[in-house]
Amino acid sequence: MSSDYEFRKFPENFKWGVSTAAYQIEGAVHEDGRGQSIWDTFSHAPGNTARGDNGDVATDHYHRFREDVALIRGLGVGSYRFSVAWPRIQPEGHGPANLRGLDFYQRLVDELLGAGVEPWLTLYHWDLPQALEERGGWRSRDTAERFADYAALVHDALSDRVTWWTTLNEPYCSAFLGLATGEHAPGAREGHGALAAAHHLMVGHGLAVQAMRAQRRGEEKFGITLNLSDVRPASADPADRSAAERLDLLQNRAFTDPILGGTWPSLERQVWSEISDFGFRAPDDLALIRQPLDFLGVNFYCPSYTKFAPTAEPDPEFRSAADIDAQNVPPAELPRTAMGWPVEPSALTRLLCRLKDEYRELPPIYITENGAAFRDVIDSTGAVLDPERIEFIDAHVGETQDAMAKGVDVRGYFCWSLLDNFEWSYGYAKRFGLVYVDYDDLRRIPKASYYWYRDMMRAHRPDAP
Ligand code: FCB
Repeated sequence: MSSDYEFRKFPENFKWGVSTAAYQIEGAVHEDGRGQSIWDTFSHAPGNTARGDNGDVATDHYHRFREDVALIRGLGVGSYRFSVAWPRIQPEGHGPANLRGLDFYQRLVDELLGAGVEPWLTLYHWDLPQALEERGGWRSRDTAERFADYAALVHDALSDRVTWWTTLNEPYCSAFLGLATGEHAPGAREGHGALAAAHHLMVGHGLAVQAMRAQRRGEEKFGITLNLSDVRPASADPADRSAAERLDLLQNRAFTDPILGGTWPSLERQVWSEISDFGFRAPDDLALIRQPLDFLGVNFYCPSYTKFAPTAEPDPEFRSAADIDAQNVPPAELPRTAMGWPVEPSALTRLLCRLKDEYRELPPIYITENGAAFRDVIDSTGAVLDPERIEFIDAHVGETQDAMAKGVDVRGYFCWSLLDNFEWSYGYAKRFGLVYVDYDDLRRIPKASYYWYRDMMRAHRPDAP
């Protein structure tokens, strides 16, 4: 192992896993009654994704899931985090379940259980039924209610076999990349609309947890996954410091304060009062949003070094919720991944310690995504050697242990991702997998990091020599 980190074993019940998401891997977008999602629409519109890539075929996991489960089994992880495509279950976003769509996830779950792998199910990883978008999408409270209905349908069908239930993956991206910067589906640049979406995503989360708890069968656990960043000012300049506070609001506090702390973030009125009256909030929403959670999923990739940079559109009517005069400028000395994201593993420990210090009733944490894209190639022997990915994961696993040693209750680590896949607006150009996918013939080739991850997990088991 390449580790510079002190080798310590993890507790016996620490969960090791690997993550994926429906639209990024499944393909088969017209099969078995699946409806259209906002990502189908967005990726098919010119100019939205690199090279015009879309998820029509992706890694063809829908047809190859047995092969993929065999890869998961070979990897030796105990848990597999995947998402259910809402438009497979409710093609129009409402009404009874489409049984053929549900059946795919029944087969997947059975295959996982048969392989001794625990399913970790996410209900929403960004693929909103297009029909709901046409009625306002997350800007509308109705979508939150539809989401709770959908959650109850899936839970009813699978809770006899699935224990771990995540409502949303990264509502920050759905609200602010989808509706403020426009980088993600549905690709809008709005002020009030994006803030309303952030709110309704959280309301949807609260309603879904309530609906699933009400029909709880056994030991199910309910949580949410947030992508959080260690946000810091790029310098001691007061302008950079306040820019960092605004970015922290946008990336972290807009979600962590209501969901974990039961408060609205103190800075929100100051930053957003010109673009929104927050009229979408109903009196009991805070209590609804702050459901008791069995776990918090944290997705972590990189820190944000923030500089004051006037980006705000002067006319509030045209300003997006992400126009906050703050820019992320990572220090030049930090290495970068193929995404251009700075690599600074210690930022993970800082982030986890901060969560522990700021939120008194913090649920147990699972790192539900961490990983990196690098320029992987098949070498002349047919192997894919990816030492940078190994180093990246190794360092973040080490930092996870540091956070645990500092008293943060972290109970699991999931690597993003099992397979190279459709990396949203970057298309297939960015490879995050432990397994390489050859997009010419969809062959799967485990990378060196796959074997390393397997051996690393084994070595960390309490009973390992
Ligand atoms: C996260 C997403 C995931 C993947 C990784 C790289 O924000 O949840 O789908 O794209 O980033």
